[in-house]
Amino acid sequence: MSIEIKGKEMTIPVVQGGMGIGISTGKLAGAVAAEGGMGTLSFVNCGYEEEDFYQNPIEANKRAFEKNLKKAKEISQGKGILMVNIMHVVNHFFEYLEFINTTEIDGVVVGAGLPLELPQYIGEDKRIAPIVSSGRALKIILRKWKKKYNRVPDFVVLEGPKAGGHLGFKKEDLSMDLFQELEEIKKILREYGEESIPVFIGGGFGTKEGFQTAMEKGADGVQIGTGFLFTKESGLDPVAKECLVESLRKGKIEDQIIQSPVGLLGRALNTEFVRKVEEEKVPAKHCVACISTCNPKTTPYCINEALIRGVKGNQEEGLFFSGSDGRRIKEILSVKDYLKEILGE
Ligand SMILES: Cc1cc2nc3c(=O)[nH]c(=O)nc-3n(C[C@H](O)[C@H](O)[C@H](O)COP(=O)(O)O)c2cc1C
Repeated sequence: MSIEIKGKEMTIPVVQGGMGIGISTGKLAGAVAAEGGMGTLSFVNCGYEEEDFYQNPIEANKRAFEKNLKKAKEISQGKGILMVNIMHVVNHFFEYLEFINTTEIDGVVVGAGLPLELPQYIGEDKRIAPIVSSGRALKIILRKWKKKYNRVPDFVVLEGPKAGGHLGFKKEDLSMDLFQELEEIKKILREYGEESIPVFIGGGFGTKEGFQTAMEKGADGVQIGTGFLFTKESGLDPVAKECLVESLRKGKIEDQIIQSPVGLLGRALNTEFVRKVEEEKVPAKHCVACISTCNPKTTPYCINEALIRGVKGNQEEGLFFSGSDGRRIKEILSVKDYLKEILGE
């Protein structure tokens, strides 16, 4: 079942999806890569713990990324693949890509938008991949990358509406047939003579059954977020992690669709904060101008601040992204044991 991507090998067909803010740090991504999977660092506001983050967010993010990458490399010891995830809608996107290209990361994955210019910024020695929600989006990317840069994605992530985090769907498309879209993507890749490009499917495949179904339906592997969010190595505050898993298990909270200030739908836990912002505005305390599509004057709340409160464990005022797999988590395992559980070894 091993997958080779531009000279680097995954010995298990599992991608740990990038999770911001502060969830998929070097510790988590390194642990997944050490098991032979693909670990993904999250770039978006990863510098939130740096002293100068609020004065100098760009430099703080770059510095924190280097620290996370070093840690991930120490843990993974050359095994698996280490990628970085960055959202297309972040401000300074191209500056960040230029910086990432100078680092020793294995490649870049871009979600929340069509990364049509990605090959211009990331060298041939690195792997590049889009996260798409439809065959249509992939076709636009393939056409542009082939024609303008003579390059194709090194892999593709198809993400469905059950995923945690931001979603690439309108409300009316949330009940779409993801496996039909997977077939469409495979067909498009065949039409382009690129059927060897691996396709990972994400959004509700972080259980043994989910993993098996994905493979039976023809995916080359899965991308998992929520399952890894609730492992020991994730960056989420350990007390909050325990409490949220218990509340999920007891049915006290569940995941729901939210409207994010980024301008996209998202899937998050229906904690107190989510209920509150449906009714009233929570003004930003310290805007770092991180999202190109967010207007700080009119935004119902600051997503950066809400996610930082979440990762630090503030269960009243934090925002917690989570996919539909949250309700299936029974206990918090290490990455190693969690992978054993879903791969059935
Ligand atoms: C807490 C959390 C944060 C996430 N943050 C990001 C992100 O910053 N960028 C991104 O492209 N995807 C993000 N995602 C999506 C994951 O990378 C992954 O694709 C998705 O979670 C897969 O579905 P699953 O949660 O059902 O396993 C996030 C998901 C979670 C649960």
